[in-house]
Amino acid sequence: MADIAGKKILVTGAHGFVAGHLIERLADAGATVVGIDLWVLRQSYLSMSPAMRKTDLIACDIANLQEVQELFEQHRPDVVLHLAAQADVTRALANPLGTFEANVRGTYILLECARRRWEREEGPHAMVVASSDKAYGTHAHLPYREDDELLGLFPYDVSKACADMIARGYHRAFGMPVGVVRCANIYGPGDLNFNRIIPGTFRSLLRGERPVIRSDGKPLRDYMYVGDAVDAYVRVMHALLDGNHAGEAFNFGTGEPVSVLQVFREMAQVAGRPDLEPEVLGEAPKELQDQFISAAKARRLLGWQPLVPRHEGLRRTFRWYNDKLPELEG
Ligand SMILES: NC(=O)c1ccc[n+]([C@@H]2O[C@H](COP(=O)([O-])OP(=O)(O)OC[C@H]3O[C@@H](n4cnc5c(N)ncnc54)[C@H](O)[C@@H]3O)[C@@H](O)[C@H]2O)c1
Repeated sequence: MADIAGKKILVTGAHGFVAGHLIERLADAGATVVGIDLWVLRQSYLSMSPAMRKTDLIACDIANLQEVQELFEQHRPDVVLHLAAQADVTRALANPLGTFEANVRGTYILLECARRRWEREEGPHAMVVASSDKAYGTHAHLPYREDDELLGLFPYDVSKACADMIARGYHRAFGMPVGVVRCANIYGPGDLNFNRIIPGTFRSLLRGERPVIRSDGKPLRDYMYVGDAVDAYVRVMHALLDGNHAGEAFNFGTGEPVSVLQVFREMAQVAGRPDLEPEVLGEAPKELQDQFISAAKARRLLGWQPLVPRHEGLRRTFRWYNDKLPELEG
C-alpha cells in the first residue's frame, strides 16, 4: 500500500460531514491536507475537530473554473478526493439548478483541471469521486451491483449519475487514475444536515419533540457508519495509487437494509425516548423506494468490510449529538 505521509491531498467539501471524518483520517496518516469549501469559516464536524488546525482550508467554488484552475496551479495536489456536492435530496427538488451546477459542473471542472496537470505528467496520481447508491435510480431487482445501469430519476440522483459517468469517462478517454465511490446512506457524529433522518431524529429526541418521518416509514435503506465510508474512500485511493482499478466504481454498504421506521425505533431506544412516537407524513413520493446495494466487489477486490454494527454506530452518534447540540445551538 502506498504511503500517503507527506502527500498533498485535496479534499473538496471539507466542511461536509463525510469529508470532515476523512480529513481526520488523512491528517492522522501524515498527509498534507488542502480542504476546499464554499466558506472557510463554518460550523462543521471539521471545525470542531483538532484536524482543523492541520488543514489548509481555502474558500473555492468548484463550479468556478477560474478559482479551481488557480487552486490546482497553486497547490498541485498529488491526490484529489472529491466529496463536495449539494447533497440534500429535498433541497435538490427545490433548487435543481444549484444542484446541477455544484454536482455536475463542479465535477467536470475538477476533472478538467486535474486533466491539464495529468497530461503534463504532474499528477494527480489518484482522484476519487463521490457518487451515491442513489445514482442507480430504481431497478426491478435488489441489491444493485456495479454493472447495473445508472437510472437516476430525481434531480439529486440524476446529478450523481452524471458525475459518476463523467468521472469514469475521464479514465476511459484520457487514462486518468479516477475511481468512483457509491455509498449507501451514511450516518455518524457530526452530520449537520438535519433534513436527514438520523440527525433530524436525534435532534428531535434530544429536544423532547416528536420526530417527523417524511415518507410512510416503509422504504428500505442501508445505513452505514461514517468510519466505514471513510475506509471506503481510503481503500479506493490506495488502490489507484498502487495502479489498480482506475475507471471503476465500487459500492459500499452494509447489505443489511432496514425500514425507516425500524431505524427510528432503534434511535428512540438508544436515546432513551421510546415514548416519543414519530409523526409519519407519508409525503415523499419523489424519493426512491426500497434501495440497497451489494458491496461484494469491494469486499473481494479491496478487502473492505463494514466494521461498525448499527447499534454501536447509533450509540456513538447519539453521544456526539448529546454532547455537541447545546454548543451548536447556543
Ligand atoms: N451522506 C450520505 O448519506 C451520502 C451517501 C452517498 C453519497 N454521498 C455523497 O458523499 C459526498 C459527501 O456527502 P456529505 O453527506 O458529507 O455532504 P455534506 O452536505 O455534508 O457536504 C458537502 C459539502 O460540499 C460543499 N459544497 C457544496 N457545493 C460546493 C461548491 N460549489 N464548491 C465547494 N464546496 C461545495 C458544502 O458546503 C458542504 O460542506 C457528497 O458528494 C454526497 O453526494 C453522501
